[in-house]
Amino acid sequence: REEPPVKDLLRIADLTEHDLAYLLDRAEHLKRHPGAAGDPLDGQTVLLYFAKPSTRTRVSTETAVVRLGGVPLTVGPAELQLGRGETIADTARVISSYAAAVVIRTFDHDDVAQFARSAEVPVINALTDSHHPLQALADLLTLREHFGDPRGRRLAYVGPATNVTHSLMEATALAGISLAVATPDAYRPDPQVEAMARKISTGGELLITEDPYEAVRDADAVYTDVWLSMGDPQQEKAARIAALTPYRVTPGLMAAAASGAIFLHCLPAHRGGEVAAEVIDGPASQVFLQAANRLPTAQAVLEALFGRTLAGAR
Ligand code: CP
Ligand code: NVA
Repeated sequence: REEPPVKDLLRIADLTEHDLAYLLDRAEHLKRHPGAAGDPLDGQTVLLYFAKPSTRTRVSTETAVVRLGGVPLTVGPAELQLGRGETIADTARVISSYAAAVVIRTFDHDDVAQFARSAEVPVINALTDSHHPLQALADLLTLREHFGDPRGRRLAYVGPATNVTHSLMEATALAGISLAVATPDAYRPDPQVEAMARKISTGGELLITEDPYEAVRDADAVYTDVWLSMGDPQQEKAARIAALTPYRVTPGLMAAAASGAIFLHCLPAHRGGEVAAEVIDGPASQVFLQAANRLPTAQAVLEALFGRTLAGAR
């Protein structure tokens, strides 16, 4: 008996290696031919719930919905009864009778998982404190566009382990890319995510080190994220700056990577913070290609979940 297709995208590990390759192929195609998907969402709405700010995720996902023929409805916590105590489960059941899919950005990953269990329609994680799967898909598309098949390439992530790092760990594992994460001990990746990345690995290596120079050795791409994420307490800021300053991506660190190495960042970025201006604004930077790739990847995910074409990892 065939398993039902995967309903939601909450983290990259929800996907199989084949699903991931399928989504990237499809995104590549939709980037060149945005109308190729037709109008599968014609006459339908997609609810986008954002409990945190967003530039890229919100606008790319809204645009992806329009490109699929649907209408995006974007709301924040103050606009739903959820903000006045209605349960996640009741909200999810009700919304399922109106909208074709739900896209959620919030704090606790378990809230999105709970919403997805109670929703009959696809639920897409648009960033939680733990995962940012839509970002990782755009990151892999960027590597593909730059290097061709990125299997066997080496990526270095330098900075605190964040939602972006976690999704990158799972995505590189599935795609057969080696990843070296350089971070102070206090900001190491979640051990549960590390174990998952090792479990789903299709061949790349995963190294976690405190030494940024060790991480970037032979790296084809150097990636960083903000030092203080949206879910992190503001009071941690000074301690994080002190601990993370040796992890800033500088021209010197880039020079220690493989020749021709590119620089990646999910954005928004802090010039002079996690990355030197000369790096993010220099010739190695691919951050705007990365940001542009959020649109076709979001379109591919919405189309595939709505069309129930992903097998899903079980
Ligand atoms: N990279 C990313 O998710 O950006 P936004 O917070 O602007 O959506
Ligand atoms: N780690 C960052 C990513 C922003 C896209 C945050 O959660 O704020």
